[in-house]
Amino acid sequence: MSITLNSPLDMHLHLRDEAMLKTVAPLSSRDFAGAVIMPNLVPPVDTKEALLAYKERINSAIGDDTFTSYMTLFFKPTYTKEFLESVKDELIAIKLYPAGITTNSEGGLSGFDVDELRPTLDAMAELNIPLCVHGETNGFVMDREAEFVSIYEMLATNFPKLKIIMEHITTKASVEALDKFENLYATITLHHLLITLDDVAGGMLQPHLFCKPIAKRPEDREALRKVALEGHSKVMFGSDSAPHPQHAKENCGCAAGVFTSPIAVQVLTELFMEHSNLENLQAFISGNAQKIYTNITVPEKSITLEKKPFVVPAIYGTVVPMYAGETIAYSIV
Ligand code: DOR
Ligand code: ZN
Repeated sequence: MSITLNSPLDMHLHLRDEAMLKTVAPLSSRDFAGAVIMPNLVPPVDTKEALLAYKERINSAIGDDTFTSYMTLFFKPTYTKEFLESVKDELIAIKLYPAGITTNSEGGLSGFDVDELRPTLDAMAELNIPLCVHGETNGFVMDREAEFVSIYEMLATNFPKLKIIMEHITTKASVEALDKFENLYATITLHHLLITLDDVAGGMLQPHLFCKPIAKRPEDREALRKVALEGHSKVMFGSDSAPHPQHAKENCGCAAGVFTSPIAVQVLTELFMEHSNLENLQAFISGNAQKIYTNITVPEKSITLEKKPFVVPAIYGTVVPMYAGETIAYSIV
């Protein structure tokens, strides 16, 4: 029996630059019809020129594959309405990072002052530019996301016309916030549907499963699985596949990020099959995103999978993927 997915989308992806971009971009463009590209390069993508030049580099890395890069800018509270008007046709969203919260986010926001944010966020709402947010405080690592829920609520109530995407949610608290505010949406990664903190640090430390936000408790994973598997209309797949070279992961001072793009479609299929929810995978991996992001056009592309063991390569270029060397149950035809 084969399974076909129409135009799968990865609504949160790190493609990096230069040699890394050339290694990882073709792995996403092989399996997905498009992806939302994160702007946390060094320096961050925060001008129209940088965004257009990055898009060109991505396009040359993917060759002839049918794949659309949905670009984002790195949020700055100094973006004016005029600037946003001039760039809006080139991007899908703007990504907000709290300062220093994760890889290359030093230039992020150091406080959430509504008056300071209002001009930019009002203009974004008016121009239908969604705000994607890395929602963590700098509190205790296991509580960072739950503590951030009050900031999501503040943003959602002060900017009711702004679409706010809670990126890579990992907690029950974030899942609950989804249904409280009409303008809150979320992406969920593959790894947060699969692992808990136990898999990262319960035995020998697993650097390739270390990411931000850190994987949480079993009950958090249950809450994520429930909304993903039921195809909840406010959640979308976003891999947050975040490649780092092997030496930066297997190192004293491990970089945060799990590299999942080459296995994402196959393992999601397995997860949805196992839970007898295959009929909801299409919504999770494409349909919901197309309804939430009303400002995108999605290329036609179909991906066929079959139940056939696939041995995950130990390394792609310099990057160790999730499940390196292990056998997964589904393959792409
Ligand atoms: O684990 C992560 N890695 N989380 C992020 O938010 C950023 C990402 C990266 O860019 O490496
Ligand atoms: Zn990310």
